Amino acid sequence: MRSDYTEIFRDEGAAEQYESDNYRPGSFYSQVSARQRDWLRAFTETAFDVPPVHHDFACGTGRVLRMLEGLVREAHGYDTSGVMLARAHELDTPAELHVIEADGPVASTVDDEWPALVTCFRLLLNAPRDLRERALRFAAGILRGPDSGLLILENHGNASSLRHLRRPRAGSDRRFAELGHDEVAALLHRYGFELLTMQGFTMLTQGFYRPPIGWIAPALDSAVSRRGFLASRATNVLYVARRLLRNGRDPARVPAVVVIAAVAPGPAIAAPAARRAGRSGRTAAAARAPCGAAIPGPSAASRPARGASCPPRRRSTRRSP
Ligand SMILES: C[S@@+](CC[C@H](N)C(=O)[O-])C[C@H]1O[C@@H](n2cnc3c(N)ncnc32)[C@H](O)[C@@H]1O
Repeated sequence: MRSDYTEIFRDEGAAEQYESDNYRPGSFYSQVSARQRDWLRAFTETAFDVPPVHHDFACGTGRVLRMLEGLVREAHGYDTSGVMLARAHELDTPAELHVIEADGPVASTVDDEWPALVTCFRLLLNAPRDLRERALRFAAGILRGPDSGLLILENHGNASSLRHLRRPRAGSDRRFAELGHDEVAALLHRYGFELLTMQGFTMLTQGFYRPPIGWIAPALDSAVSRRGFLASRATNVLYVARRLLRNGRDPARVPAVVVIAAVAPGPAIAAPAARRAGRSGRTAAAARAPCGAAIPGPSAASRPARGASCPPRRRSTRRSP
């Protein structure tokens, strides 16, 4: 875990490198990201009866916010790096982007708008312990009970995968992080979340996507890695969880509200009203996730009526750098 984690992403070159290196077209990460996008879109349409409000913690350049374009009622991205958020804005990320402080409580901009989908991708693996806890505290502040929505976390360095073989020998000073399912489960448990399912997106590591087998590895990996029974061994895993505790007897209650800065508001997100119009308002209690697992969805009882007006949002007038 790096103590300078937050600072790394405030560097001018960080956003550029993140997009043009890690996520350049055709790269290992962009292929994994494309699979995640397909799955996440299908999942969101299946698990929610009405489009959720999306909150993406540590949203960076807006990768996950863009994945769900058109499928959510509203979208909010939160990050400490003005540089990453500026890049998200340049990429037409359809969300309100919020600069947040590096620690302390983070307030949601939307009060009690359920169902909500909270996502946190590519953070847990390399983040220091406090930041992992902060991400879960943020999610717990929005998802206050089983009916309020779902949390999806990414682990892009599963300790039970092939990637583990790259772990440096003792004594080597090479930086290497990996994250076990037990650590994720413990983190979820501490904040009152129940793990519902896991979904894998690659069984391999970056090196397999290069010659001599780079011509065949992506296709094979794509076919194999999304099989439900292989999720626990995948290099890249998403965890879907729901909150069991309700506030009131909740040790992870988010304390005071803090003012956050709205930067670079993106275009409004159109709720896919036509697509939803034919659906009944009943609960998606036994919604079937694309991976085949039964996902208890948020119940209709706690949702605002369709077309109901949203509570006013708290925003400061401060702009991002
Ligand atoms: C590896 S990037 C992931 C970006 C995005 N979630 C994705 O999957 O593409 C990690 C992000 O965490 C943000 N971050 C670092 N420290 C943070 C903190 N203390 N609170 C919130 N976000 C933080 C960074 O600015 C960076 O944008």
